[in-house]
Amino acid sequence: MPKLGVNIDHVATVRQARRTDEPDPVWAAVEAELGGADGITFHLREDRRHIQDRDARVLRQTVGVKLNLEMAIAEEIVVFAEELAPDQCTLVPERREELTTEGGLDVVRFHGRVKEVVSRLTSRGMILSAFIEPLDDQIRASADAGFQAVELWTGRYAHAPNAREHGRALDEIRRAVEVARSMRLEVHAGHGLTYRNVRPLAAVAGLSEFNIGHSIVARSVFVGFREAVREMKRLISPPRGAEGVE
Ligand code: PXP
Repeated sequence: MPKLGVNIDHVATVRQARRTDEPDPVWAAVEAELGGADGITFHLREDRRHIQDRDARVLRQTVGVKLNLEMAIAEEIVVFAEELAPDQCTLVPERREELTTEGGLDVVRFHGRVKEVVSRLTSRGMILSAFIEPLDDQIRASADAGFQAVELWTGRYAHAPNAREHGRALDEIRRAVEVARSMRLEVHAGHGLTYRNVRPLAAVAGLSEFNIGHSIVARSVFVGFREAVREMKRLISPPRGAEGVE
């Protein structure tokens, strides 16, 4: 059964809109665990637009499930990750002007630096995952750089304008999962996944973890965080005999 990592960044986005102390992403992490999350994911961005250093430190002390830090390969962040020592680090590209992470990290282009970061963090016992586009050369470069996992960028799937493109993007992901599994990589997926589009992906064999944020935070405004997580979890790994919700 695939695992659900709940990305809590946008709880912090609401807090930062007023530079106050609520809502606290640490509370969201507690609620996510109570709703059945298998992991808590957050992105400490260089511009600190949502998650703050304090959040990362308190999450490290309080989260009981897998803690996954999404991070750029900038030295300041790498040093922070070395000290924080989350269970997993997912290396992502980062541009200050972007609304959210756009596309995957170019592991082919930045191979030298990426390999160094993987080696430094792996030596401290962390699982390293590369957030990449579902492309053969990126998967191969990730295996070569020493990653234990890849997180396939699902943006093309999530934003497909019609059924044909949607089908193509799903096939591309299926194929990438096979390639990555043949290289003994764990395969995760994320970006743009929602209550409406996650089911076909959840049925793809070989995908072991989904990282989902915006859609869960959006639903939580209406149903509460714990319930929003519970509903997503049911779609990803329905209890035996259950249909899940939509
Ligand atoms: N996975 C990675 C690597 C991401 O950067 C993000 C966005 O922060 C997500 C998953 C979650 O994407 P979304 O908020 O669209 O669910």
